[in-house]
Amino acid sequence: MRILVLGSGAREHAIIKSLIRTGTEPEDIVCAPGNSGIAAEVECRTDIDITNELDVSRMAISERADLVVIGPEAPLVAGMTDVLRQQGVQVFGPSKQAAQLEGSKNFAKEVMRHAGVPTGGATLCHTLEEVEASMDEFGAPYVIKADGLASGKGVIVTEDREAALEHAKKYIHDGVLVEEFLDGQEVSLFFLSDGKNVMPLSPAQDFKRAFDNDEGPNTGGMGAYSPVPWLPEDFVDEVQEMIAQPVVTTMRDMDMDFVGVLYCGLIVTEKGTKVIEFNVRFGDPETQVVLRRLKSDLADLLMRACTGRLNHGPQADFSFHSTVTVVLASEGYPTNPVEPREVTGIEKAEALEGVEVCKGSDTGRVLSVVGHGDNIKKARAKAYMGLEQIKLEGGFFRKDIAEKVSE
Ligand code: AMP
Ligand code: GLY
Repeated sequence: MRILVLGSGAREHAIIKSLIRTGTEPEDIVCAPGNSGIAAEVECRTDIDITNELDVSRMAISERADLVVIGPEAPLVAGMTDVLRQQGVQVFGPSKQAAQLEGSKNFAKEVMRHAGVPTGGATLCHTLEEVEASMDEFGAPYVIKADGLASGKGVIVTEDREAALEHAKKYIHDGVLVEEFLDGQEVSLFFLSDGKNVMPLSPAQDFKRAFDNDEGPNTGGMGAYSPVPWLPEDFVDEVQEMIAQPVVTTMRDMDMDFVGVLYCGLIVTEKGTKVIEFNVRFGDPETQVVLRRLKSDLADLLMRACTGRLNHGPQADFSFHSTVTVVLASEGYPTNPVEPREVTGIEKAEALEGVEVCKGSDTGRVLSVVGHGDNIKKARAKAYMGLEQIKLEGGFFRKDIAEKVSE
């Protein structure tokens, strides 16, 4: 089976490492456009715009791909899955319509309403007057979200009424959601879906704020760990039953079969687990820690999802080991990342036992160091040992990833 992976981040690098670790030959994988780290493991085809129909369909043909795995949300929302399916290629990733679960926060709320899934209250607003009225209704802290994709920049959570209104003003043109504030710990749980059946992967916790102690702006994610030892034992079953399965069933009823990863962004509140958001693809950096623990054949799982056979065969199996990843970001990230600068020491880091590096973008989140060990404390120590070897002028990383769970 020949697999084409679309994307160029640390997530795609982690997917490729996992494919190889669980039995796929590197020669059977090609990545487009990839990055320098991915190119050290498999062939990359750089001459491509992965949101362009013609580019993507030509690439799938010329590479004779049996399976295309789409990493990021942009090509999914742009409909690349539909184009590829029309030419008879198996695609791991939802259709353009189904990708609206991530592409429109309002659509996601509607699906949740139909499916009876627990989530915070929200109002879709088209004028600033409506925004103010909803802010009064929900009270502070204010949660304001752009309806459409905004590369992680669309959400603000603040006590500051003026800042909330400023943010709303920026996105009001395409609609903003004003949401009830939910208080609690966040957890990411991915499900593979074949359109009908879902299969849980293992939970992870992501650290979204740029700086230590959860200060600074929201980012794509600055680090993560897996498993999440403080969760109740029935957590995964409950999320499957209350959230993932009803959503996939509702999407099927709406004629939008959901094939791919249903990423449940959850918050564990005093009143139970609720959905903060859905994404329609693997999370970055959670994938680096979750797939590092996967023992099952990933290519087989993805193919079973694409062919409606997720329930034919074993569930995804995970090692009891723990993993922690810490993201190295470039100066200025996330607001104004500097031009790309040289990164050194990656080989030295990877030479350490229990350490691997997933290469990210040239600027922004430039890489994720993944530590692996018997428990979170040991895995965390490995990740930071790895980072000590790596140099990037102006680069920074959080020092407190998984610190509290290591005590
Ligand atoms: P989202 O893009 O919807 O995941 O939002 C980004 C981040 O904003 C989340 O990971 C949370 O930390 C925070 N957030 C979003 N919605 C809420 C909410 N209703 N209550 C509290 N925090 C939220
Ligand atoms: N880590 C958050 C995301 O992938 O959206």
